[in-house]
Amino acid sequence: MIELDQAAYSYGGGELLSDMTLSIAKGSFYFLTGPSGAGKTTLLKMCYADLVPTAGNVRLFGQNLRNMTRDDIATVRRRIGVVHQDCQFLDHLSVLENIALPLVVSGQDKLADRANLKELLAWVGLSKRANALPPELSGGERQRAALARAIILSPDVILADEPTGNVDWDMSQRLLQLLIELNKMGKTILIASHDLGLIRTAKSQVQARVLRIYNRRIQLAGANL
Ligand SMILES: Nc1ncnc2c1ncn2[C@@H]1O[C@H](COP(=O)(O)OP(=O)(O)OP(=O)(O)O)[C@@H](O)[C@H]1O
Ligand SMILES: [Mg+2]
Repeated sequence: MIELDQAAYSYGGGELLSDMTLSIAKGSFYFLTGPSGAGKTTLLKMCYADLVPTAGNVRLFGQNLRNMTRDDIATVRRRIGVVHQDCQFLDHLSVLENIALPLVVSGQDKLADRANLKELLAWVGLSKRANALPPELSGGERQRAALARAIILSPDVILADEPTGNVDWDMSQRLLQLLIELNKMGKTILIASHDLGLIRTAKSQVQARVLRIYNRRIQLAGANL
């Protein structure tokens, strides 16, 4: 699904990420850890075709990022749901409208999808907040709304950037259970997180692997995390 082949990234200075080789298979569950500023968000951006590596290659669903047209990128992005680190809602639209936005933008705003939307809101526990505006939401509600928006188009891959960054333990567990459920449905999951407690809980429930950015490179962490 996601393949890195000696991929590197530099924002202009020296390389932030170097010589990364990795293959994320369909249906797998990965965490991505590393200190603040290590490049987790940057790596995720390459995984959803927002950044092209400055050296080496990244392939998404078998297609090399370097050879993709705008249409190819749009097609690939439809298969990838992203929960951004800062959520990025349109504050003048309701929670429901924000979650439905990918449907509207992709021209798939059909009645059947509207029914799914209700189900999805219930699944993330936000039925009662459908008409609220994003600034009125708590941190945990925002994260769940962001997750709902990320999966509305039924993507194959879900990338979540610190999805439990601003929430308490109970809420982070709840979010994790949602991600585990998605993985059980066959979705490929990649979560950037500092939260070792969360990672340990996940590892006790699913076969989760842990990637770590260390010294600009990516490594698979051992079993004793
Ligand atoms: N658009 C940009 N232009 C220049 N430098 C950038 C840009 N975006 C990020 N950086 C720098 O690249 C480095 C890695 O940033 P990135 O956001 O990928 O780290 P991170 O591991 O996600 O950190 P955090 O845990 O704090 O979210 C940081 O030093 C950051 O300042
Ligand atoms: Mg980050």
